[in-house]
Amino acid sequence: MKFVKFASIFAALLLLAGTAQGFDPEAGDGAKGKDDVMKCRGCHDGTKTAKLNPGGKTKKQWTRFFEADQKKLVAKHADWASFALNNDQLQNIHRFLIERALDSDKPQTCD
Ligand code: HEC
Repeated sequence: MKFVKFASIFAALLLLAGTAQGFDPEAGDGAKGKDDVMKCRGCHDGTKTAKLNPGGKTKKQWTRFFEADQKKLVAKHADWASFALNNDQLQNIHRFLIERALDSDKPQTCD
């Protein structure tokens, strides 16, 4: 019993540590994201896969993809781990996308 208790506390601590380094939709640097997003453009170039179009979604939709639906985003990409993106880079890409989202000051609808 003691072990079970210990194990669950340990699991809870791990979970906490995980969320502490989790995705922060307010963080990120859009200028850096412009470079980081090149990794995505390798596939999302309009031939192999649809272009990654920042102006194709609203800020809220992008944030949902990166935050709440990040599992879904990862699931769409079988080789996600090979992109080797860390949380900072993901935050940068997210910022890059929402700065050009449909409801931003400068929506980017092509490229
Ligand atoms: C190895 C090729 C590849 C790379 C690299 C890649 N993607 Fe994708 N992506 C795909 C494929 C294939 C799909 C599935 C298309 C579908 O489901 O219609 C997809 C789907 C998506 C979708 C869902 C589109 C939608 O509206 O439902 C998003 C968002 C997305 N990718 C974002 C990204 C981001 C952000 C990156 C960079 C971090 C990235 N992708 C890198 C191949 C790639």
